[in-house]
Amino acid sequence: MSDKDAMPRAIPEYAGWFGADPDLPGFKLNPHGAYKHLRETVPVNLTPNDMWRLTRYEDIQRLLKHTPAGMRDSEGLISGMTKEESDANRFILQMDPPDHDRIRRLVSKAFTPSALTAIGPLVQQSIDQELDKLDPGNPTIDVIPNLALPVPAASICAMLGVPFSDRDMLSEWVSLATYRLAAGAYPQMQEQAAEALQQLINYMMALIEERRKNPTEDILGALVSAEEEGDRLDVEELLFNSIGLLIAGLETTIGLIAHAMRCFARFPDQWELLYQQPELLESAIEECLRFEPSVPLTLRTLHEDTEFGGIIIPKDSRIMAVLIAGNRDPAVFSDPDNFDITRNEARHCSFGGGIHFCLGSHLARLNTQIALSSMVARFSNLELNDEDIEWAPSLFRIPGKMPMQFTRR
Ligand code: HEM
Repeated sequence: MSDKDAMPRAIPEYAGWFGADPDLPGFKLNPHGAYKHLRETVPVNLTPNDMWRLTRYEDIQRLLKHTPAGMRDSEGLISGMTKEESDANRFILQMDPPDHDRIRRLVSKAFTPSALTAIGPLVQQSIDQELDKLDPGNPTIDVIPNLALPVPAASICAMLGVPFSDRDMLSEWVSLATYRLAAGAYPQMQEQAAEALQQLINYMMALIEERRKNPTEDILGALVSAEEEGDRLDVEELLFNSIGLLIAGLETTIGLIAHAMRCFARFPDQWELLYQQPELLESAIEECLRFEPSVPLTLRTLHEDTEFGGIIIPKDSRIMAVLIAGNRDPAVFSDPDNFDITRNEARHCSFGGGIHFCLGSHLARLNTQIALSSMVARFSNLELNDEDIEWAPSLFRIPGKMPMQFTRR
């Protein structure tokens, strides 16, 4: 060993957690102060688990839209996965072109405006059923089973053709399976996540077999016939994209609806404003997405050496766009820590960007519009004690329990 090898390596000034460590207690509830500090002091940062983080809006947009980067490294591997696992994991959010584009074209067909129009009444019916069941004498509601879960479950189950009655079990598996989307960043969660994914695989395989015998008009039926037609979709692509849609469609929207209710409990004047001016519904949802995103970050692997914040980050590095930090960048949003449903500024980062921009953004907005308009018409005086929130075991910021008090109008 030479003297040089024995010397401790100098740690660069941008390396460390700087207080923004997702494993810290309380971080899921309120990561904003830590990310503000990071954005102001070390906006381009290398974490101790070798992930780069971008926290400024402009850097995030440049990474997602204008940088040679993708989901896999130059050997086709997904960070944190073996070659075998990388070959099998074929959800579009883990694929690069041309495969990504081919599958996205197929899956997008299910998200046409007319498909969404058909979903609206179904979701409304499911909310009305849940809210009508509530005991009029009891002002406490657990927002997750009574609102935030049934809404996306009604839509994604109908679109995919999955039984609605399986929603609780699916939601449990889906929560844990999210950690497979960032395997390299959370090695400690991979065993549980892989088990949950296996349950989803067994469940979905049984449904696929059924569709092979009895073709259906839903997304799963469409994906099965695309697979049967030959080279357009292989069996792994069929399996991982139907499971991926369940994960993407269920988990994220549960979070959006739950965080929206928490935002309005913290800013009651905005809830009353929405009641008085229902035409603000669309901008209110954009503000909830900006203010408390349920998906705090998205990942890329650099396909070329790239400069961010004066640092040249080498090809094949893993890099996180910290969407939640970009959404509160004062260079883009005035008074960013204020929740204002009349805000009409730049587009938030919460649905990502570039070729992987969220495919379900319209569906998520539709679900949340129906949920919020149903709630604001019925209830005032929302109250939530943050200590009562229990988090689901998810990579994302998803409450598993969230009891709130309401007054009926
Ligand atoms: C509030 C709800 C939602 C949020 C916050 C959200 C957020 C995101 C984010 C951040 C990405 C990654 C984008 C990127 O890396 O650039 C994404 C991708 C994706 N989302 Fe969503 N999503 C939501 C709802 C949905 C729903 C309801 C569905 C479908 C049922 C869906 C399907 C997808 C799919 C398929 C992708 C991968 C697209 C691709 O790789 O081309 N999402 N979403």
